[in-house]
Amino acid sequence: MNQPAMQGLDLQVPAFVKHAKLIAWVAEIAAICKPARIHWCDGSQEEYDRLCQQLVDAGTFKKLNPAKRPGSYLAWSDPTDVARVEDRTFICSQKKEDAGPTNNWVAPAEMRATLAPLFDGCMKGRTLYVVPFSMGPLGSPIAHIGIELSDSPYVAVNMKIMTRMGRAVYDVLGAEGTFVPCVHTVGAPLQAGQKDVSWPCNKTKYIVHYPETREIWSYGSGYGGNALLGKKCFALRIASIMGHDQGWLAEHMLILGVTSPEGKKYHVAGAFPSACGKTNFSMLVPPKGFEGWKVTTIGDDIAWIKPSADGRLRAINPEAGYFGVAPGTNYHTNPNCMATLDKNVIFTNVALTDDGDVWWEGMEKDSGTLPDHLIDWQGKDWTPQIAKETGAKAAHPNARFTVSAINNPALDAAWDDPAGVPIDAFIFGGRRSTTVPLVSEARNWVEGIYMAATMGSETTAAAAGQQGVVRRDPFAMLPFAGYNMSDYFQHWLDLGKKLGAAGAKLPKIYTTNWFRKGEDGKFVWPGYGENMRVLKWMIDRIEGQGQGSEGVMGITPRYEDLNWTGLNFTAGDFNQVTSIDQAAWVKEMALHAELFQQLKHHLPQELEDTRTAIEKRLAA
Ligand code: OXD
Ligand code: MN
Repeated sequence: MNQPAMQGLDLQVPAFVKHAKLIAWVAEIAAICKPARIHWCDGSQEEYDRLCQQLVDAGTFKKLNPAKRPGSYLAWSDPTDVARVEDRTFICSQKKEDAGPTNNWVAPAEMRATLAPLFDGCMKGRTLYVVPFSMGPLGSPIAHIGIELSDSPYVAVNMKIMTRMGRAVYDVLGAEGTFVPCVHTVGAPLQAGQKDVSWPCNKTKYIVHYPETREIWSYGSGYGGNALLGKKCFALRIASIMGHDQGWLAEHMLILGVTSPEGKKYHVAGAFPSACGKTNFSMLVPPKGFEGWKVTTIGDDIAWIKPSADGRLRAINPEAGYFGVAPGTNYHTNPNCMATLDKNVIFTNVALTDDGDVWWEGMEKDSGTLPDHLIDWQGKDWTPQIAKETGAKAAHPNARFTVSAINNPALDAAWDDPAGVPIDAFIFGGRRSTTVPLVSEARNWVEGIYMAATMGSETTAAAAGQQGVVRRDPFAMLPFAGYNMSDYFQHWLDLGKKLGAAGAKLPKIYTTNWFRKGEDGKFVWPGYGENMRVLKWMIDRIEGQGQGSEGVMGITPRYEDLNWTGLNFTAGDFNQVTSIDQAAWVKEMALHAELFQQLKHHLPQELEDTRTAIEKRLAA
């Protein structure tokens, strides 16, 4: 094979790479970014171990005590690089209306001109890692391939866990297969002799998507969704566009299997905004009163959903690992997750214990006490006294773990099935202290799309910016829809119409809110495993057995419609999480109207009609 070389840098293309266009693209990007070296990742364990050791030597990783947490590492990021940067994320479609009012838009030519000087020489002194990955089972007809070129070894090792990464991808790609090109730099070139820092990044950040050419360019951040480009950038933003064009869905959804004591299995896909408990829900342990029930995880964050020949919607998890929020996770909230984190984990921005293990807020619920001393995520001493005096958190609220799905004791046997699993119900769940009831079932597909489209949620630490403010987060996709939100609503409506016309049984649609608070400011609903009670009501409804009452929006269960065995939750408590406050709903509907005003270009008429119908019911 002809091996292009560029000014002094040998591309060193391995024999297993046979794709001329890919090689030419790597040469082109290397010519722009000017790395000192190129490393073609093969995805082997040996390579992973070597890169982790290199990260230890560079001070980015600390190896955790192997007696406590075998095969695991801890990274602390730069304090300015701790979350997704939504205000620096751009959809650069040719036409502004194709990005729509919920995305930041810059014309592609203008963005390319802005990025050109930033990428010029951005990898000087660093290694360019060529990271081949498959989103979805290798070779599956639903999977898609990406190649990430990154100057971050932290990204390379995280991608090994989060995706099917390595040499086998080239076998699937062959000489001419298609791939999504992803370019990532931390934006911190090293001059000759310059000493590196443990978390290189740049205060200027750009997370850029070009929908028409299906390209991703990310500059300046090494953290999470900004840098692991298979996740939000590809599997949601670019894939949502591909799905729109090709008749499928890329969604911010967990996928779980739930099996009854009689052995009947159901599959549910649930969209919740970032850091609202998708991982917990996908690993739910049924509580007392649900003996014989089993919940299994297919995915915890992203679902690719396609209509199959039998007219059912089938879903795969395009990822191979979990990049979950650590704080709040403990044996009470998510025992399966705690077991998942026993070994072979990369932790980012949690605290380090004196015996070389990790700690985060919430773990005290298991041990009953706070540790006497820790090193916090910024490398500072932390004691309960310091925390009391200064409010300092030991772990950053958006601290994460990266871990392979195969560690999960609740992993579903079909998690890797290229055919995916058939979906029986969709759940859309916001985080709302008030107003929105525990659960409602849409009376039909259009009402379900309305509920999902108008979902509001309080913001969390997963994204940089103010926390706890209610914003509309349609389908939990506000930061992730790669195209005009109203066209996205239309795509969901069209899919329902198409499947309905073909005589298919459509999944039921639910909205949930686990987060209503009482006057004391505390959550009323116990959540976590107890969410099984709501899930069971949904299953009853799917089976045509569950009861409920018609509400302003959808059907809601009465107290007697849920199984309360094993939980002390009174009818009064239930009223607190389900009551409809007329005045609050009048305000809520005004916010829906405001959203629709913002989205009026291409807003489907059915949604506007549904809004009017709800307003009438409310006034009646
Ligand atoms: C995530 C997110 O990391 O939604 O999954 O922010
Ligand atoms: Mn997410």
